[in-house]
Amino acid sequence: PAVASRPSNIAISWSALRDQAMACTRCPLYHDATQTIFGEGPLDAPLVLIGEQPGDQEDLAGRPFVGPAGQLLDRALDEAGIDRARLYVTNAVKHFKHERRGKRRIHQTPETSEIQACRWWLDQELDILRPRIIVALGVTAARALLGKAVTISRTRGAPIALESGAEGWVTIHPSFLLRVPDEARKAQERARFVEELREIGTRV
Ligand code: URA
Repeated sequence: PAVASRPSNIAISWSALRDQAMACTRCPLYHDATQTIFGEGPLDAPLVLIGEQPGDQEDLAGRPFVGPAGQLLDRALDEAGIDRARLYVTNAVKHFKHERRGKRRIHQTPETSEIQACRWWLDQELDILRPRIIVALGVTAARALLGKAVTISRTRGAPIALESGAEGWVTIHPSFLLRVPDEARKAQERARFVEELREIGTRV
């Protein structure tokens, strides 16, 4: 008889969790979003990235980090020598929180209660994946990962021992780079982000 191997158990647990998350009503955000955007990537990835929440394009496409922030992330990962195809990428909050202005849907930062409600999924997701390294991109992801509010500037640059045994890192959210008005500063911030990713990449 076939003996269930670890990978197939993981795949079954992950699919079941994803299916449940698709029907999530744990906080009000499901009302106005198109769909739940669950994480994606190889289930045996040693490295997991956590973003904030899906944006407009992710909400429509059904996949994390495919819009402007995702493209920026892809280029930064590429420069850092990390292959996105070997990462698992997810979000702290799995529905797109926004307000409507005419035809446009404007991103809104999730509330602590929404982050907390969505940890139900993130914690189980990470439990199934058991990555060696988990990177929180921005304050929302950092709050979800560490269970408390932190500032990026004081938390970035060094590994954090997580209860699960994984190594945690906190860095900026790529969309922060889209908002830095000064070109020189933007280049500096971007270079620092790439360097952090490179350092993390050497540890997997
Ligand atoms: N920003 C995020 O934090 N996550 C996405 O999936 C897209 C944009």
